[in-house]
This record gives sequence, structure tokens and C-alpha cells, in this order.
Amino acid sequence: MLEQIKSELKIGLQDYFQKTYRQSIDIVVEEPKDSSLGDLSIPLFQVVKKIHKPLMELVAETVEFLKNFSSMIQKVSSIQAFINIKLNEKKFSQEVLKEILTKKEKYGDNNIGNHQKIVLDYSSPNIAKSFSVGHLRSTMIGNSLRLIFEKCGYETYSINYLGDWGIQFGKMIVAFQKWGNKETILKNPIEELTNLYVRFHKESETDLSLEDEAKEAFHQMEIGNPEYIELWRWIREESLKESAQIYDLLEVSFDSFNGEAFYNDKMAPVIKELREKHLLVEDQGEWIVRLGDDIVPARIVRNNGASFYITRDLTAVLYRKKEYQFTKMLYVVGNEQKLHFTQLKRLVERMGYDFAPDIEHINMGFYLYHGKKMSSRNGQVVKLYDALQQAIGNAEKLISEKNPTLNHREEIARKVGVAAIVFNDLKTTRSEDVEFDLEQCVKFEGQTGPYLQYTGVRIASILKGNEIELSQCDWRVFEKPHYFDLVKKVSLFESIIQKAAKDREPSVIARYLLSLAQSFNSFYSMERINVEEVSIRMSNFAIAYATRVVLNEGLRLLGIHYLDEM
Ligand code: ARG
Repeated sequence: MLEQIKSELKIGLQDYFQKTYRQSIDIVVEEPKDSSLGDLSIPLFQVVKKIHKPLMELVAETVEFLKNFSSMIQKVSSIQAFINIKLNEKKFSQEVLKEILTKKEKYGDNNIGNHQKIVLDYSSPNIAKSFSVGHLRSTMIGNSLRLIFEKCGYETYSINYLGDWGIQFGKMIVAFQKWGNKETILKNPIEELTNLYVRFHKESETDLSLEDEAKEAFHQMEIGNPEYIELWRWIREESLKESAQIYDLLEVSFDSFNGEAFYNDKMAPVIKELREKHLLVEDQGEWIVRLGDDIVPARIVRNNGASFYITRDLTAVLYRKKEYQFTKMLYVVGNEQKLHFTQLKRLVERMGYDFAPDIEHINMGFYLYHGKKMSSRNGQVVKLYDALQQAIGNAEKLISEKNPTLNHREEIARKVGVAAIVFNDLKTTRSEDVEFDLEQCVKFEGQTGPYLQYTGVRIASILKGNEIELSQCDWRVFEKPHYFDLVKKVSLFESIIQKAAKDREPSVIARYLLSLAQSFNSFYSMERINVEEVSIRMSNFAIAYATRVVLNEGLRLLGIHYLDEM
């Protein structure tokens, strides 16, 4: 609602200056830091620059114009070149709360997407390795973006581009042939496979022939040697079982699991096309594409004929464009792959396709553990599944202390534990690193997921069993600042969602929810909600209810469960 008024003012004033002075001026409507000045303010510097009239005259004229502009406006005043607007608290609150109570979880739905199709590539773990907390970031950011885009009227298609092909499987197979044993692996697949992978890297530091053997093993896979394919398939199956467990726990799903292997038989025509377009050149036995002076060439075919990571991604993006007709193709992948996606875009451009600008790398930072980057090469990984279980355990302990008689405790602990980890991730601007601190993120206070769930539960228990009748509200209470601040905050929800969609940034919603919860909790500390006086009680219930609607829906957009009790 606030955004709507802002944009009406902007357009209204722009029209006015256009009609009166034939000047097109970009009007900015802001929320002043000091709300005692007003709810909105409009600086006239741009106006003064273009219209040659004394400032005071322009100010007076603008004030006059705005006075009758909208019934939502209570008072218009000015200080120097600033116009200050005070809204009509009663009317504004009434409109906002009526809208939220009618629309409920549909509040904030909008159509900036206009059915455009966005394809999202996220999670995409390398399946022979343990699913690390590193891949959690991509999973949760991707999942949240999908929900946000859908709320904004986009159509989405989500792809888990499994890392189920590539030289690392060659390494794994070589390691398996040298040091592995099927029985031990079957007992503990991921752990044993990880051990083999770590050992491969350690030994290849001194034994330089290992890398070549791995290349050859992968080549055998690519040409379909049954022995190698069999081994690969088995490793893949075992690994997928672990990811499936994690997706269940997180309640994340995908429209497609077509990973790198899916493109193995689709690369040849793409390589042919590169050759026909005279883009492929030979370089020390390999085939590469030069992409300009500012960027290293893309390596497309290895000297033994095998493909590269980018060969498969190029094949995939061309396939997806044809298959899904996307308007945007988003890759939710770590900062460290920046070069890879720059190359991918440039390749598509060089091939003469016009959709290169629609390819976006939605980059993100690392997970840090005690301030250090986690990596699977040095065995320095926290296994996501273990971490989730631990968070759930911590949540259960906290819940038992706070609410010993709670039913369904296990299920609630699961939702709280998952919320803790997911929120810790999503509250951070995605391009920044996230510290993985299990103790901290499960707490019920501070900037945590459980804090938001707890705030919602508190409101639920206040509202329990009460009907809300807006016609019985006393709208005058909304003239009090702590009431009106909370109304203004919930009214921002739609524009917050749109900003999150435009910036591809779930943290915008996460941080908004924290500030909403803070506003509610400070309101709650100043106001007893369930009072005798019906008209005051109804007003209190209405704003509490509206807060809960927004909180719940905001959490849902982050992929987090809200709760009725905990
Ligand atoms: N499997 C890759 C990794 O873990 C991520 C894949 C991202 N998606 C893509 N289309 N390249 O590093």
C-alpha cells in the first residue's frame, strides 16, 4: 500500500509538471529517516533545475496540488526544498488491514512476472561426494527464488543439474580400482567414496601418472565402455540415496534431475556447430574457443577426445533454450565459478544466439567453518545431513526445556532445526560468506529462524479462538506511532517481495521479517493486546493477525515452516 501511494504520487507529480510546464522530471518519493517530519517526503531539486521559477513559488504550488491529491493524505507541509507528507493513519491502516485480512496468504501476490518463464539451475551436487553444507546454499537460495518468482507471477522450471559426469568419476574409478573394495563401500557408500577421492588427490601429488589414468577412465565412460559405465551407474545410485534423504528433510523438490550425464550424447552436434562456425581452434592437442583478450579461452575437447565441464554446460543451455523457451536462465552457483559462467555467456554470444544476456550467474559466497572455507578436497566438510540432525537435536532440547508438555515434539523439532540452518543461510546477502555456527542459529532469540517462528507462535496463542471483526475496530488507535509503524511495515510486504525478485536476493525478505518481528515485539511490550474494551481489542487483534499473515507467508517464501506452537 505504501509503495502504491508512493508511485501514485510520483506519477501524479510527473504528469502535473509535464502538463503545466512541458517538462519531464523524474520525481523521487522517499521515506524520511525522521518520521516526525512525515511519512513521505519529496525533494524538489530536480524540479527547480528544470523549471525557472523561484523555489518558494514551486514549493507552494506543489503543496497546493498535493493537498487534494488523495484521501490517504492528511497533511502536506514543506521545509526548504522538501515537501513532507503525513498520511491519514486511520484511513491508511483501515485499507491495509482490510486487504490483509481478505487476501490472507495471497497478500503480496503480484504479477510483475506476467507468466514469463524462468529456469533455475540449483543445488546440483557432485553426487559421488558427500552433500556438503556448501551445496545447501545453492539449494535453499534456489528454492526460495523459485517461490518468490512464483509469487510474482513468473512461471518457473527448476533443474537439479547433478554433477554425475566428468573427470571426477574417472578419478573415483581409478581410486576404486586401486584401493577400493565393494563390500566396504556398500556398508557406507558416501563416506568410503569420499575417502577414495581424498586419497586420490593426496597420492596424485607425488604420483603424476594418476591424473592421466583418471582422464583415460573418464574417456572410457564417454565412449560407453560397459565395465566403466556399470561402475559409474553404481556409484551414482548409491550417492543419490543420500541426496534424496536431504531433499526430503528440507522439503525441496525439482522439476528435473537431468544432470551432466544426460548431455553426454548431445555434445557432438554442439561441437560440430562450433567447428562449422569457425570458433574451434586447436591448442596443444586440445580444442578451444577463444573468447576475447579479457578472458581465458574455453576448453571444449580434451586431447583424448573427452569433454569439459563447460562443454556439457554449453550443450545444456542450448538444449534448455529449445526445450523450455526461457526468458531467463539462472544458475545458483558459488562465486568461484564466475569465470565459468562468463565463458558460457560469451560462448553463446559468439555462436550468434541472442539470448546470451538472459543467462545469469546467481553467485554466492562460501560456507565458513570457524572462519575457514570448507572444501571436499582436504576432507574439511561438514556433512549436511549430520549438521541438520544436530540442529534438530539442539532444537528438541530447547523445546523440551521451554514447553515440556508439547505434542508432536519430534515433528516440531525437525521444522525448527531445519529453519535454524536455512534462515542462517538466507539472511546473509548471497554473495557474502556465511559462518556455519550451529549453536547460534538454533537459538530462539537473536537473528534466527526459530526467533521468527517463535514470534509467530506467540501471536497465534494470543489470537487463539478469537474472531476478528474489522467493523468493530477503533481506527483512532492507529494514530499512535507504535501502531502506525507496524501497519506501515506490513504494508511494505509486496514491494519487499518484488525487490527480492529483482535482486534475486532472498535475504531482502529474511531481513525484512527480522525487522517486522522486532516491530511487533516492541509493540507487544508497549500494549496489552487482549484488553476489555472491544474496539481496542479488535484493533489489536487485527494488527497482530496481519503481522502473523505476513510473517508466515514471508517464512514460506524462504522455504521455512511456520508453526502454531513450539
Ligand atoms: N556440480 C557443480 C558443483 O558442485 C555445480 C553445477 C552448477 N550448475 C551448472 N549448470 N554448472 O560445482
